Amino acid sequence: MKALIVYESMFGNTEKVARAVADGLGDAFDVVLADVSEGPSLSDVDVLVAGAPTHAFGMSRPGTRADAARQSGARPGAAGVGLREYLDDAPMLPGIAGAAFDTKIDKPFLPGSAARRAHRRMHRLGCRMLLPPESFRVSGTTGPLAAGELDRARRWAGTLASAVLSERHGV
Ligand SMILES: Cc1cc2nc3c(=O)[nH]c(=O)nc-3n(C[C@H](O)[C@H](O)[C@H](O)COP(=O)(O)O)c2cc1C
Repeated sequence: MKALIVYESMFGNTEKVARAVADGLGDAFDVVLADVSEGPSLSDVDVLVAGAPTHAFGMSRPGTRADAARQSGARPGAAGVGLREYLDDAPMLPGIAGAAFDTKIDKPFLPGSAARRAHRRMHRLGCRMLLPPESFRVSGTTGPLAAGELDRARRWAGTLASAVLSERHGV
C-alpha cells in the first residue's frame, strides 16, 4: 500500500513531525514523504496524510507565508504553494484513507487548527478520514517542537497504520 505524507513547513517543525509520522507508519506501507511545493502525485495513493503549520487560526495563505518568510530561520522558497492550494487543486479522492495533522503554538486555549481545516477539505474530496485531526505543539513561531511531540507523532502514525490495516483486513 502506498502512503503519501505531504507537508508544508516554513521553519522545519512540521517537516520533523512528518518524518516521525513516516517512521511510525511502519513496514506495511510504501511511504512517500513530500514537501507540498513538489506537488506530489496523488495517483495510486492508498493513504494520504497531510500536515501543515497553523497560520492565523487555520491553513496558511500567501500573506501568512510571506509574513513567515520575513522571519529569521524561514526556509528559502517555503512561501510558495501551501497545503490549502494543494488540496484546492486535488482531484476527488474516493477510496483513499486520510488523516491530517498540524503544528501550533503550545498555549492553552489558543483556538484554530490547520489540521481541522485540512481534515474537512480532505473529507469533502472523498477521503475516509480514519483519525480526528491532531495538533503537535511548538514552543514558539520558529520552534522548537515541545518535548515528547515526535514520540507522540510516531504513536499517532502507529494508530493510523492499525486503523488502515484493520479496515483492509476486517479485524
Ligand atoms: C503568520 C503566522 C501566523 C501564525 N498563526 C498561528 C495561529 O493562529 N495559531 C498558532 O497556534 N500558531 C500560529 N503560528 C505559529 C505556527 O503554527 C508555527 O510557526 C508553526 O507551527 C511552525 O511550523 P513550521 O516550522 O513547520 O512552519 C503562526 C505563525 C505564523 C508565521
